[in-house]
Amino acid sequence: MGQEVLRDISFRIPERSFQFLTGPSGTGKTTLLRLLFMSLKPTRGLVTIFGKDRSRITPQELPLIRRKIGMVFQDFRLLDHLTTYENVALPLRVRGREESSYKNDVTDLLKWVGLGDRMHVLPPVLSGGEKQRAAIARALVEQPSILLADEPTGNVDPQLARRLLRLFIELNRMGTAVLIATHDLGLMDQVDARRMVLSGGRLEIYD
Ligand SMILES: Nc1ncnc2c1ncn2[C@@H]1O[C@H](COP(=O)(O)OP(=O)(O)OP(=O)(O)O)[C@@H](O)[C@H]1O
Ligand SMILES: [Mg+2]
Repeated sequence: MGQEVLRDISFRIPERSFQFLTGPSGTGKTTLLRLLFMSLKPTRGLVTIFGKDRSRITPQELPLIRRKIGMVFQDFRLLDHLTTYENVALPLRVRGREESSYKNDVTDLLKWVGLGDRMHVLPPVLSGGEKQRAAIARALVEQPSILLADEPTGNVDPQLARRLLRLFIELNRMGTAVLIATHDLGLMDQVDARRMVLSGGRLEIYD
């Protein structure tokens, strides 16, 4: 087994809360998000998701619970052979929803992130910032209770970063808990929000 990345960490993410997760590169931010998204199991310790012990969540239950968690991956994970629209709609299509029931919502969501005119192109022709916004839209399409965003402004200019931050704040005002992993001090300074700082495997929280 390799070195432990996270240890002696204890925190809670309240409903409807807004927080940043920060700390040097390689310190475990992505690892922590993956634990919360349940794509990684802790080697020890307790992870509770929506009040449920992670270790008791069965593979059958997992997709249902995960639907309530929106994840923006650091590397986007868009499917190159599907259009922006199809990428965003995919989670709904996969679970058998009729397109007529979600087409308008997906279109509105894409407009909300500023991709109204990029809906029908494939990800390889999107810019970094456009891919980032497509990944954000996909994470939100199931109206999750919590959004986990891994460096969601890592590929955009400061102006677009501010716009995305405003989107996250608006989303949070509508009731979604938001956790943003970021190195961007300038971004964090724009909001008076809880900061969770990872360093050397430990977590300090500044409310
Ligand atoms: N799948 C893996 N297997 C083994 N080690 C890993 C794996 N993923 C990450 N690590 C290691 O765990 C540590 C934390 O990585 P992690 O990606 O969580 O950091 P991070 O804080 O997100 O970094 P960055 O700011 O660069 O995105 C690093 O030392 C990394 O090398
Ligand atoms: Mg990372």
